[in-house]
Amino acid sequence: MRNTQSTNLLSELSRPGRRGARVGALDVPAVDVVAAIPAHARADAPPALPELSELDIVRHYTNLSTLNMSVDSHFYPLGSCTMKYNPKRNERLAALPGMLDVHPYQPESSLQGMLEMLWNLQGIFAEIAGLDAVSLQPAAGAQGELTALLVAAAYFRDRGEVRSNVLVPTSAHGTNPASAVMAGFKAIGIESDAEGMVDMVDLRSKIDAQTAVLMITNPNTLGLFERNIVEIARLVHEAGGLIYLDGANMNAILGAARPGDFGADMMHYNPHKTFSGPHGGGGPGAGPIAVRAMLEPFLPTPRVVRHEGGFSLDFNHPKSIGRVRSFFGNVGVLLRAYAYIRTLGADGLADVSRYAVLNANYLLALLRDLLPVPYSKGCLHEFVGSAMEMKSRSGISAMDLAKRLLDYGFHAPTVYFPITVREAVMIEPTETESRETLDAFADAIRTIIGEPTELVQAAPHTAAVNRPDEVQAAKSQRLAWSAAP
Ligand SMILES: Cc1ncc(COP(=O)(O)O)c(C=O)c1O
Repeated sequence: MRNTQSTNLLSELSRPGRRGARVGALDVPAVDVVAAIPAHARADAPPALPELSELDIVRHYTNLSTLNMSVDSHFYPLGSCTMKYNPKRNERLAALPGMLDVHPYQPESSLQGMLEMLWNLQGIFAEIAGLDAVSLQPAAGAQGELTALLVAAAYFRDRGEVRSNVLVPTSAHGTNPASAVMAGFKAIGIESDAEGMVDMVDLRSKIDAQTAVLMITNPNTLGLFERNIVEIARLVHEAGGLIYLDGANMNAILGAARPGDFGADMMHYNPHKTFSGPHGGGGPGAGPIAVRAMLEPFLPTPRVVRHEGGFSLDFNHPKSIGRVRSFFGNVGVLLRAYAYIRTLGADGLADVSRYAVLNANYLLALLRDLLPVPYSKGCLHEFVGSAMEMKSRSGISAMDLAKRLLDYGFHAPTVYFPITVREAVMIEPTETESRETLDAFADAIRTIIGEPTELVQAAPHTAAVNRPDEVQAAKSQRLAWSAAP
């Protein structure tokens, strides 16, 4: 259905004299405001505030809120930068006054409940990772990567070792090489083989005494478990390097495999992809990291510790890389992850992964004849189809398909990533979607493929904004309204 609601700004909707509130009679002595404010501090004219009725304002914001797609309103099969459903129970818990109203500058004695929650969460994240120590400070997955690489750099410095290279498979998320460079390393790409796995020949040729860290995503961005992970870890360790796991895809292996057991020395979690935390649009997130014991001294401070009298913040880590985020991290997001984990328990988390894998494979089976999936053997939580055939047959590209899906009420999948698949359409349904939703999504793709090319190429036809220049939209945002041309 076409969305014809007004997107005018409040200042454009304004009409002189229109009012949305009535102020009651004064119950305090009247003050002459003009006389009370010195002339030099007074504005020459009243501010040009919009004049609106309450209904104008309610309708304006309600309409705006429906122009965007969200997990709460639409199926959101965005692969890789997945947004899982945020259960409302967790939102309510995080909004309880005892959680919401505490301040990090309160005395520790009055924060015992919050500190206990954080301490428990550190333990849970260590257990799921199969690693020894956790920092909850990083505010997003990418910051977790950077933090762990700074920890690795401090570790090598402490040992008097000079290692300058970080190896990153070409299928990795763009944040991996960016984090490596930000941490002062040189990022070196490793090719993928014909099955979408790390190319072992290329890897062997690039591991040397300069190798500090191999950053690996497992399951990788094709949704496949790196079969050779134990051998990869052995090779890197033998050369004195460390294994970093981009743990963004833990949603596929909860309760089935632990990164520490398959060779990872450090990792980050993406709670928004695995533990239902909110994130996205650059908003607050969390990217806690877990590391092996030998890296613990270098973790950010403060750490939450337990002692006989209760819980406190421990700053006494002379080798620490210091703070990477104010206070203890984005506690509200961590709290939601904690609520999610405690609600489901270990068995429930293992079920999450089973259903995530089941849903992805069900959709894969429905779609593989429409969008061939070049690397589908052993697909776990997500898969990457290719619109290449469709594009050469009818001119409909991955981007056209993604845009047209909006008209059918579906958020677009990730497109053009990973770069190892041409015209990539990366789909991750997550575990919460019903069979009916998955069927409807596959039906929509089938219908779109049968539609006239021009119609699809001009999509979306129902969205408030059609096809913005994506680079300009990201790089030159105009976030403030001004009356001046
Ligand atoms: C594989 C992978 N690595 C890293 C990240 C970066 O995480 P964030 O967006 O929290 O910085 C993502 C994004 O979700 C991801 O999918």
